[in-house]
Amino acid sequence: MKSAVIAGVGSYLPPRLVTNDDLAARLDTSDEWIRTRTGMSVRHVVEPGGATSDLAVEAGRRALESAGGGGADVVVLATTTPDRQVPPTAPEIASRLGLGTVAAFDLSAACAGFLYGLAGAAGLIATGAAERVLLIGADAFTTMVDPDDRGTVVLFGDAAGAVLLRAGEAAEPGAVGLPVLGSDGSLADLIQVPAGGSRSRSSGPPSKQPDPMDVYFKMNGRETFRHAVQRMSQASREAVERAGWELGDVDRLGAHQANLRILAAVADELGFEPERQLTNIAEVGNTAAASLPTLLAMSAADGSLRAGHRVLLTAFGGGLSWGAATLTWPDVVVG
Ligand code: UT7
Repeated sequence: MKSAVIAGVGSYLPPRLVTNDDLAARLDTSDEWIRTRTGMSVRHVVEPGGATSDLAVEAGRRALESAGGGGADVVVLATTTPDRQVPPTAPEIASRLGLGTVAAFDLSAACAGFLYGLAGAAGLIATGAAERVLLIGADAFTTMVDPDDRGTVVLFGDAAGAVLLRAGEAAEPGAVGLPVLGSDGSLADLIQVPAGGSRSRSSGPPSKQPDPMDVYFKMNGRETFRHAVQRMSQASREAVERAGWELGDVDRLGAHQANLRILAAVADELGFEPERQLTNIAEVGNTAAASLPTLLAMSAADGSLRAGHRVLLTAFGGGLSWGAATLTWPDVVVG
């Protein structure tokens, strides 16, 4: 059975920056609060009118270049912020990348979308349905948060990251171990956008119509924090066990960049020193489905992630949904 092997990686951050001080200039918050409670200093945001596909196309192009050119049989876009509710965004990305009429679909698993995408890509490759899969994690979350809600607007940035996965052998560097995945829909309300889906569109009495503020993202931060630490720690243990590794064998922990205090708690729970943890949260904030592939691309580019490193990835987000996966980092030039 073929394995999915990372052959290329790339990321894209939109150039427009919003600093903590920019936010503090118009909201009841401060650089000090944001830095100490989240670890974030700055975030990149799309231009007005910009959308997820604009970021995803650039990251996808860079991942294809990193893989030495060539196309892909399937484009998978993990996102919570598609350009439009209909159609899916992946076909447009495939078209703009010049990939013609290849299979292309969106995948919705919030901040865990990249890991769910890895599992999907691995399945497509294992069954022979695809030889090369372009997996992109992209989100323009700043288009969905309430600009006046200091509790959420400070947390998110926009980005895209991508990997080109090719059919290869399980023992090769870059081969992705089968991810551990999980969900808990009984806690669906913890992280949500109440309006915009079928539940808010069905006709009903005016009393059932959505509040105009329901178009915005809402999160119970404190509860989410607790579940994030617990689920990422547990999934990480399972993924390491599935790989036949010990936690001490892992050279780099790459966890969803939601909050530096969450990262510290997960690292503490698993016994990781700061030197073994990858982070870019100060520069990008929480970029949802883009978080892990962007972290991989930026870490490989700055040398904190190197060929031969044993990597443990983990993520958690709305759904609730979570996951973890292992791989040995391949010798790739970041696109
Ligand atoms: O990507 C999906 C997964 N997402 C996550 O995992 C996020 C998880 N949650 C978190 O990262 C944290 O819960 C937050 C960063 C969202 C909030 O940090 P916290 O330490 O849990 O703060 P809190 O919500 O308990 O709020 C503490 C205080 C409150 O004031 P009172 O009620 O104590 O007077 C908030 O109103 O901080 C206040 N607050 C702020 N103050 C200044 C909340 N946001 C801000 C802000 N600036 N931006």
